[in-house]
Amino acid sequence: MTDSDTDTDTDTGSGRGDRLLRRYGSALVQVFGTPQLVIASGHGCWVTDVDGKRYLDLLSGIAVNALGHGHPALVQAVTKQAESAIHVSNFFTSEPAVQLAERLLTISRAPDGSGVFFANSGTEATEAAIKLSRRTGRTRIVALEGSFHGRSTGALALTHKAAYREPFEPLIPEVVFVAPDDADALRAAVDDTTAALVVEPIQGEAGVRELSDDYLRLARELTTRHGALLVVDEIQTGIGRTGDWFAHQRAGIFPDAMMLAKGLGGGVPVGALVTFGPDVTGLLVAGQHGTTFGGNPLACAAGLAVLDTIERDDLLTHVREVGALLDDVRIDGVAGTRGRGLLRAIELDGIPSAAVMAAAREGGFIVNAVTPTAIRLAPPLIISEEELRGFLDALPAILSAAREASA
Ligand SMILES: Cc1ncc(COP(=O)(O)O)c(C=O)c1O
Repeated sequence: MTDSDTDTDTDTGSGRGDRLLRRYGSALVQVFGTPQLVIASGHGCWVTDVDGKRYLDLLSGIAVNALGHGHPALVQAVTKQAESAIHVSNFFTSEPAVQLAERLLTISRAPDGSGVFFANSGTEATEAAIKLSRRTGRTRIVALEGSFHGRSTGALALTHKAAYREPFEPLIPEVVFVAPDDADALRAAVDDTTAALVVEPIQGEAGVRELSDDYLRLARELTTRHGALLVVDEIQTGIGRTGDWFAHQRAGIFPDAMMLAKGLGGGVPVGALVTFGPDVTGLLVAGQHGTTFGGNPLACAAGLAVLDTIERDDLLTHVREVGALLDDVRIDGVAGTRGRGLLRAIELDGIPSAAVMAAAREGGFIVNAVTPTAIRLAPPLIISEEELRGFLDALPAILSAAREASA
């Protein structure tokens, strides 16, 4: 870092973002490459970068900021909780932790004897699920091609992408990947040696690829028949994102375990593993798993504020209604759309997604190039029809700018 790179609170205006990015390059491990923006603040569905430019946030921190930015219910809950107790450790507990666990069991329609383990991220929720599955006495896990379940060495073993896995192999053994939505492949893979089948109802990182309800029902049937756990990863799809509390609920199934994170804390880190029924919940006993921060009252108060607001403002209905605007996008350069509620991919017709993401940003919209040919939208659940229409109205110009830039 040079003196001229040093930012102070008075260093505002144009160029501040570039200077901070240079400092970022010298101060952080470069696992994310160069960030696209340096964001200073957010309000509702809008964020402002350090140079003062505003963007409509159609990604919400990768499906995290369920209530957008600076939502009064979340700010008040976190502020109030911070004034009383932020952290108590797992030697103790707190009312927000108990309340949030109870609320999660209610909205997941879990039977008596179910339970919640709180973690701090999605990856950690996956780790807990892996350990849970090992307690069945079996070690073989079936996961799906295209899956993403996290980056720790355990969760990575269930994550399909070779580029993520290969530099860290050997990972935990006995993970088998099968093609998603292929009933015969699933029938062949799940047997009496299977500890768990782990699925995302909609594969977010794979480009918002939905499993059919029939496939999810088959997954339930096969795992029940063979005494394996059905584990659903709702880290990206849960907490209202698809218009149901949890995406698997539309198929009318009950899993044995469910991972949550992302939207649950509305931006405050919190993850959870929900275990369904006493037999599964009893697999992990005292001393077999833990975390220092998991279930801290600050994160749980945030989670409660998110769930309360979704319920109070009937955001599940809102997500379905406003999300329907993305059911059918007929614009030159769009080949089709996928997904449900407010988790969507727009498949592009011959325009690289990276160019579309850059042109959108230039036009004041944050979207994500989730695959080389598709952009992902996962806006705050509170996004208005008018805001989303604003993006759709701007899309033709964004696509032609992208086409030109990539020609
Ligand atoms: C479906 C799914 N599972 C797991 C994870 C990992 O969660 P985290 O990044 O909070 O560790 C993600 C994150 O993108 C995800 O989308």
